[in-house]
Parts: sequence; structure tokens; C-alpha cells
Amino acid sequence: TTLDPHVFVIFGATGDLARRKLFPGLYHLWHLGLLPERFRIIGSGRAAPGSQEEFRDMVHAAIEQFRGKLQDHGEWHEFAKRLGFVVASVDDGAELVEVVREAEQELGSNTQRLMYLAVPPAVAGPMVRMLGKFELHQRAKLVLEKPFGTDLQSARQLNVVLHEVFGEEQIFRIDHFLGKEAVQNILALRFANGLFEPQWNHQCVCYVQIDVPEEIDIQGRADFMESTGTFRDMISTHLFQLLGFIALEPPVRIDSQSLHEEKVKVFRGIRPLDPERIVFGQYEGYRNEEGVDAASNVETFVAMEVYIDNWRWFGVPIYLRTGKAMAESRRTITLGFREPPLKMFPEEVDDPCNELVLELTDDPQMFVDVRAKIPGPDLKLGRGRMKIDLLQEFPGSEPLEAYERLLLDVMRGDQTLFTSTEEVELLWRLTDPILAHRPEPVIYPRRSYGPQEALALTGEFRWRVPDA
Ligand code: BG6
Repeated sequence: TTLDPHVFVIFGATGDLARRKLFPGLYHLWHLGLLPERFRIIGSGRAAPGSQEEFRDMVHAAIEQFRGKLQDHGEWHEFAKRLGFVVASVDDGAELVEVVREAEQELGSNTQRLMYLAVPPAVAGPMVRMLGKFELHQRAKLVLEKPFGTDLQSARQLNVVLHEVFGEEQIFRIDHFLGKEAVQNILALRFANGLFEPQWNHQCVCYVQIDVPEEIDIQGRADFMESTGTFRDMISTHLFQLLGFIALEPPVRIDSQSLHEEKVKVFRGIRPLDPERIVFGQYEGYRNEEGVDAASNVETFVAMEVYIDNWRWFGVPIYLRTGKAMAESRRTITLGFREPPLKMFPEEVDDPCNELVLELTDDPQMFVDVRAKIPGPDLKLGRGRMKIDLLQEFPGSEPLEAYERLLLDVMRGDQTLFTSTEEVELLWRLTDPILAHRPEPVIYPRRSYGPQEALALTGEFRWRVPDA
């Protein structure tokens, strides 16, 4: 590749995200030849996980667990040579800065730094100050995990601290849903085709659903869930970002600035959320999970209705739903289309209207359900499907995992698929009132689609998932 040499510093290197996504992702990028030729990876945290050798073993185990068995031992050793651990904390970066400078001496004077803060929101601010104090911010790109702050006020404070140390062009606020292949494909579908955009509005669309049920429960992440909750973890971040891509106006071009401008307009247009149209849920047994308060009323599920008061979307209900310990794992976006003005087929089946469905799984698919004539002597109708399966359609293509794609974008300095200060603040402004008066969560059974109240939320339109 033509990328400048990089020193990657991963804070929170022994944490869940680093083990699940970051190390496996960096390894895979390297394997594909997409990392810069010259690089170092420095894991960091408050305490070393044992010797350097033990740290490398931990990374090796994480890659095998989350990316699959490593076949080529020689290849792993090549990678591991560039990997080490250095202790650093919010007050002390002395050793880290030394190790980073040594690495830069070896890699060359054009070396860039990539600092990844895989740490809880409360630690982000103090970390950034530390980076400034030890001059680790120079020639650096900074990646921050979501949620960005925990409300409008803390997000603003964090932005102030950030801007004392970094320029906005150095800051990458990650929302990994935007790195998913199928999400970028929303832009292609809408703006590289003439067919869809004329229908993409309130005149033709009668509802939108963004549905992300998850089978996994909290999987031992009690601390995280208790302090964050599903609303902050998923709704005010991932699901609203998806909504941004579905709802935005055609940007003047597909670049960072234009897309951010259009997303901001969408978020500004969202009607204040109606607490009556939001259902919080908690799965049965959550309070017995280890580390969870026995009286916890943290939500593990949210379903809600949203309206965008602009010319395009006025009056179209948009339903969002996500939760843990649900019946299946899906990431499904559905646009329901209005019925034709006249019913002229006598035996027309009383089925749902036309739906355009985007399945944002690792095997991304798009399809439209249409009524069609069943071949035969009578004019009988059935439902058929026009479908495109992206991996089949483009065999040999090399899909990247969301974090891989986004890490690559950070190296290239491309902020298109990241969230801006303004977006983040607008979303907190919208969601703060809900978090200040949190609805009481309704208990729902494991392996269900959420509480009854949530199922009823869509009224005359059913939830598209589970598939009929
Ligand atoms: C993370 C959330 O950001 O996204 C998790 O913290 C959630 O709670 C995860 O499970 C879902 O991501 P993906 O890529 O597995 O759909």
C-alpha cells in the first residue's frame, strides 16, 4: 500500500473491543496487504497483562477466537514482532511516549500516529489531556468509541477538551455500524440508481423500520450495560446513524462534508421524541446476572416511533427496535410502500404492501416483495421477491469487517463514515429528555421479540421481523 508508516496505540488493549475487533481486524488488514508496509502496534492500559510474551499470546488467542484459526505460524511471528504492550494511565504517559518515539525512529520521519481510545466515556477526557501533556497528539489521529459522552453536557465538555488538544480533522468518532458494507450500499442504492429515489418519500413510503434484535444477552458485560443501557448503547448511536443514511437528502457529492451536512439536517428535523411512543424493556433474568443490581431498571430493549418533520418525510412513522436476549439476530431496514390507488384484482390477497428490505448482515442482501401473477389458467396473485445478494452478485469480492474498513479510513484520513461533533450534540439534545425521565422497563421473556407493548407500537403495520 501507499500509506505512510504508522504507530498504532490501542488504549484498553486487554478489553472486550480490542480483543473482539481491533487486534483481529488489524491482523486481517495486514494479511490482506492493506496495512502500511512499516508499522508498530502498541497495546496500552493501566496494568500489564503479564510479560510481553503473555500479551502476544493474549492477542494470538483473541485473533483465533474471533477471526478463526491461524494457519501460518511464520506469518503470525512476522506480525507479533511488531506488537508490544506499554503501561500508561490518565496521569502517566512517560514510558509510552518514549516507546512511541523509538518506534518512529525506526519507521521513519513520516510516521503517523493512530491513537485508539477503547475506553469508557468517562475516561476519554482525562486520556485526551494526558495525550496532550505528553505530546502524544502530534502527527496523531485520534479514534473515540461510542457513546460519545453520556448526555449533551458531557459530550460538549468532551468536545471542549478534545479541541484543546486536537484539530477536528484529527478526530474520528467511530460508530462501527457505518463501516458495514450494507450501510454504504444504502448510498449506492439510493444515489447510483434512478429507480428508487423518486419513490423515496412520504408520497410513496408509508413506514420505515430499523430493526436490530440481538440473540446475545449481556455476555458478562454487566458493568457496561448497567452504566450505559441499550438506549445509549444502540439507539442514540447506531440506529439513529442508520436512520440518517436512510433519510438524508441527496448530498451534492459523496464526500465527508456533504454527507455530514445532510445528516445534520435530518437530525435537526426529527420531531421531539414522544415518551408515550417509546417502550423500554428488560429481559427476564437480567437482574440475576452477575454484577447486575438486583433492583436494576436499566433497559436491555428499546422500541420507539420517530417522525422527521421535513418535506420528504412528513407523517411517515419510523420505527426503531433493538434489544438483547431476543429470538434472533437481525439488522433489517424496511421501507413499506403505499398501496396502489385502485384494487382491481378480485382475489387480491390481503397481504402486507410492497416492502423494500435491506438485510445488513455479513451476507448483505436487498430485496423487494412484490405481488405477481401465479402462472396458470386463472388470474391469481401471490407474493414474489426481486432480490440481490451482494456476495453472490460479486464473487471474489473481499468484504471487510466494519472495524477493518473504518481503521483503514482513519489511516487514510477519511472522515466520511465517522460522526461529527454537530451530529453527536444534536442526537443528545434529542435524546436527553428521554434519559432524564426514563420509561419504566417492561419485562420480556428471553428469546422473544420484546414486550407486548412494543409489538403493538406499529399499529396497523406489523413488524416485518419475524418473517411471515
Ligand atoms: C456494539 C454494542 O456497539 O454493537 C453491542 O456495544 C452490540 O451491545 C454491538 O451487541 C452489535 O454490533 P454488531 O456489529 O455485532 O452488529
